[in-house]
Amino acid sequence: MADKPARRKRYRGTHPRAFDEKYKELDPQAYPDEHAKVRAQGRTPAATHVPILLAEVMAALSPGPDKVIVDCTLGYGGHSQAMAQAGARVIGLDLDTTELARTRARLGALGLDVSTHNTNFAGVPAVLAQLGLNGVHGLLADLGVSSMQLDDPRRGFGFKHEGPLDMRMDATRGKGAAQLIADLPEPELAELLSEHGDEPRAAEIARSLKRQQPTTSKALAALVLRAHGLDPSTFRGHGKHPAARVFQALRIAVNREAANLAALLRVLPQVLLPGGVAAIISFHSGEERAVRGAFKDYLEQGVLAQAELTGIKPSRQEVHDNPRARSARLFFGRRAP
Ligand SMILES: C[S@@+](CC[C@H](N)C(=O)[O-])C[C@H]1O[C@@H](n2cnc3c(N)ncnc32)[C@H](O)[C@@H]1O
Repeated sequence: MADKPARRKRYRGTHPRAFDEKYKELDPQAYPDEHAKVRAQGRTPAATHVPILLAEVMAALSPGPDKVIVDCTLGYGGHSQAMAQAGARVIGLDLDTTELARTRARLGALGLDVSTHNTNFAGVPAVLAQLGLNGVHGLLADLGVSSMQLDDPRRGFGFKHEGPLDMRMDATRGKGAAQLIADLPEPELAELLSEHGDEPRAAEIARSLKRQQPTTSKALAALVLRAHGLDPSTFRGHGKHPAARVFQALRIAVNREAANLAALLRVLPQVLLPGGVAAIISFHSGEERAVRGAFKDYLEQGVLAQAELTGIKPSRQEVHDNPRARSARLFFGRRAP
């Protein structure tokens, strides 16, 4: 007897809202037009990621058949795909085990030979040594989280949907955000919110966090709204959500993002071949400061011969097409010959 066709997910209203209800977006092979429709609305289809500043990254790294490029933040593989299609040998790193396996399969299905490594980019010299390479012509780090991570409520990165308060990019290691809140003393929590999120009500929010110990993303978002004098049950804000800063700060702390970036910036001189280019896309002021500071030092020391220090912004058209590009800034530096 033939199998019955699978029933589509049931959801309230006319459109699916929850991640796992978006069955058309989650199955692009069966619904090829859905992707284009969602992109035309300025949204990112579920379980994908739109590469940011792609043309600018390609211009900075000029990938070609004679180039070896390491993509330190493979994610969905949008940048790597374009660089491999331009003929470069691409080595992709990511610490997200789940998404890395999906991206490996996706790039493989496109016939692209990108070598993938499930590791922290702080360990990029070890990966290159393992491959018998003494350096690369180009290095890309597109910092922060991917849309797949942000939109999957099971990962707890976003404040729009209910999920466990986890936020680990590498879900196999370390402690999640709820545990971090439970373990950190209140003053350190306040300091973290202020340093990584520029949160003006850091002390008050840290006090509520310690008192209420939220374990889900919605409970955290509601707590922050209340700290800002807003009622979570009626809040219908536009523009930046008041909880965005707190989510960002916790995510940075959970994943030790500042320390990882510092480690990557330290090893750049040993990873880049003479004349090689490092391109880094930042998403907040802390990352901008770290990248600009390191590139300036390298220029003064003669390690870099040239650098882009202002931070190239996405065009208005790109921000319109992909609002997640809004705060991106591209820095790059060329190693002295
Ligand atoms: C903004 S996304 C990259 C998107 C990618 N450029 C694309 O076009 O699909 C950032 C990725 O970097 C990964 N990541 C963040 N910090 C990392 C680290 N220290 N080492 C390795 N991967 C990291 C995240 O897991 C995420 O997949």
